[in-house]
Amino acid sequence: MKYSEKVMDHFMHPRNMGSLVQPDGVGRVGNAKCGDIMQVELSVHDGVIDDVKFKTFGCGAAIATSSMATELVKGKTIEEAMQVTNRAVMEALDGLPPVKVHCSLLAEEAIHAALWDYAQKNGLEIEGLRQPVEDIGHHH
Ligand code: FES
Repeated sequence: MKYSEKVMDHFMHPRNMGSLVQPDGVGRVGNAKCGDIMQVELSVHDGVIDDVKFKTFGCGAAIATSSMATELVKGKTIEEAMQVTNRAVMEALDGLPPVKVHCSLLAEEAIHAALWDYAQKNGLEIEGLRQPVEDIGHHH
């Protein structure tokens, strides 16, 4: 299997790994098929994601995609963050091998789950956001 240099870079040197002291939204999703789990924490102020951290218990591609996904949503508005799909994350990483595409879905879902948590806590509705599932293996 061949990984792009960017995937290797984000796998070896993950950005935004860890957790926040007081997150405004926390999302945790997994895929029961491979057993991987990803947690994303967001700090949101005035509709802008000003900080984000992740923890991924999973494969290298899951670590690289969560690293890149957090980079892509950092400093963005919630609406902009909603555009960060798994496809956008894969493009930013110069692609993933086909058998690893599902790992990028975990990153998209974890960010959506964190946004959902934020919206629930603040009585907001985010357009296009649906209730997250804990095991993304079921509906993909
Ligand atoms: Fe499950 Fe990569 S193998 S997220």
